[in-house]
Amino acid sequence: MSGLIPQHFIDDLIARTDIVDVLSKRIDLKKAGKEFKAVCPFHNDKNPSLTISPLKGFYHCFSCGAHGTALGFIMEYENLSFVEAVESLASELGVEVPYENKSNPMKKNNDLFLLMDAIQKKFQNNLKNNPKAIEYLKKRGIDGKTAKKYKIGYAEKSWTNILDNFGSADSDIKSLLKLGLIIKKENNKGYYDRFRDRIIFPIRDSRGRFIGFGGRIFEGDQPKYLNSPETPIFHKGMELYGLYECQKSMRAIKKIIVVEGYMDVIGLSQNGVEYSVASMGTATTDNHFTRLFRLSDSICFCFDGDQAGYLAAWRALENSLSHLKDGRQIKFVFLPEGEDPDSYIRKNSTANFEKLLNNGKDLSDFLIQKTSEDIDLKSVDGRARLAERVKPFINKMPRGIFKELIIEKLSAIVGLSAKKLEQSITEDEITKKRKSSSNKALRRKNLNMNQSSPSVIKKSISLILNYPEAVEQIRKIEFVNYEKPGIRILIKLLKNITDEPNMNTAALIERWREDDEGKYLSKLAVNLFPKNEEFNATQELNSCLEQITKNYYNDRINSLIKKQADNQLTADEKAELKEIIHKNKIRR
Ligand code: CTP
Ligand code: MN
Repeated sequence: MSGLIPQHFIDDLIARTDIVDVLSKRIDLKKAGKEFKAVCPFHNDKNPSLTISPLKGFYHCFSCGAHGTALGFIMEYENLSFVEAVESLASELGVEVPYENKSNPMKKNNDLFLLMDAIQKKFQNNLKNNPKAIEYLKKRGIDGKTAKKYKIGYAEKSWTNILDNFGSADSDIKSLLKLGLIIKKENNKGYYDRFRDRIIFPIRDSRGRFIGFGGRIFEGDQPKYLNSPETPIFHKGMELYGLYECQKSMRAIKKIIVVEGYMDVIGLSQNGVEYSVASMGTATTDNHFTRLFRLSDSICFCFDGDQAGYLAAWRALENSLSHLKDGRQIKFVFLPEGEDPDSYIRKNSTANFEKLLNNGKDLSDFLIQKTSEDIDLKSVDGRARLAERVKPFINKMPRGIFKELIIEKLSAIVGLSAKKLEQSITEDEITKKRKSSSNKALRRKNLNMNQSSPSVIKKSISLILNYPEAVEQIRKIEFVNYEKPGIRILIKLLKNITDEPNMNTAALIERWREDDEGKYLSKLAVNLFPKNEEFNATQELNSCLEQITKNYYNDRINSLIKKQADNQLTADEKAELKEIIHKNKIRR
């Protein structure tokens, strides 16, 4: 599993989770006999094709094939990682996740965080005693309150200020090096401070811990900004500057503005716009979108009004497409050449800045504008080219109103009916899916789930997942050494259930989340067995196991006989062959 969370906790969590409870908090469920039905949130549909089985703790969509446990649902629906989903589920049940001692992410790197905390305080204190730094901030319109909110500091004009104050023991030196706060001299004799004579912007993670620093020079032409390097606790491309402060200053965040720089976030906050975060000059990644959309459904990009800002906005658009579920909105604001959000709001007032935000460009308009830049839309040929060019972008969007809207917009421009356009996009999509599903089939084959005659093995697995109680009365397993696709899973499943008889389907499946072969397990949890009185799961399972046993012995006999023909049988093998043949006679 995750390696961090004890297996028994996950088992227990799943056992205590009512999938109906979890899903009904997120989508509308209707009771249908022993099960529940819902409109599937993972594809565009009006029919209730999603079936939820409370007993199995499992959902399955008969239309798009989406399926999984409550945990899987949360991951998919809310875009969470496994550990995040466990956290979320645990907090819904009011229990705390016990991380395994050493790797407890709360405790991991604790000493580094403590050191960062102390050093941040030192920088902040330095600022108080440095008129030049205070003067600089004042000149840029930043008052004491805002400086305090963002914990702005100052790194002394010294080669050893941090080293002298925090590097007395060898272990401290090690930590400072790890954090990139000191640098080893080239002659290997000693160290020096990374940040010297700079305004310091502490960077916090979403929980408020200090993970890195950005340092700005006052004047001159050295690199304007110097940042903490990648460290065990700082990954620049993963973080958003100002996210913590933004979360803290507003309960419900209507929209979030993404800007490029530290000073943009700070300048906007100084002028009353408290809902901006900075990508610190890096691209807006998938991970960023996941986090941003967790806070708000509306994201507005407001980058510098230059070529670099325009390109950054375009890259953000490209990375955003797969996140565009219904109800979400992305806008782009383009500032006049040479301005950035900080300079704009100072020159033009908060009200004017907000007006600019409201008049931002819709993602669909920006998409069409950028893709048609060098195309003559007056010509038929040009319009056809535009349609072709936009298609791959539309293909990346999840189905929904948003996608429909953009197709409509495009159809108006290219002069094709929305229906036709959609058709041709769907065709592209289907070819793509076909390709990827044949790839998947290939991969599965490689993983040996699908070869020769595993159907009886597959059927056994499926029976066990759907009727774990059937395992109570099964025959003894004789094929532990059988090297056949799926056997390992089958045997382990049987053991799981014998060891812990009360596990339901969901709990069983969750045990295999990180197993390459087991990934396909959840597919087999979909119940395709007849629902009539004659059907007896125990009987079915036993006859499957019987068949596997027969196959096993047959294969074994064949291989031993082959060896015998080559005169290569060991004494043990000879005895084995004799015994199996004897057993098999009795069996038949
Ligand atoms: N940046 C960086 N290193 C640089 C330049 C920029 O890390 N050499 C990052 C910083 O996070 C910076 C952001 O990219 O905040 C945007 O750069 P820029 O627009 O130049 O910075 P501003 O925040 O606008 O800073 P200022 O107004 O003080 O010039
Ligand atoms: Mn700026």
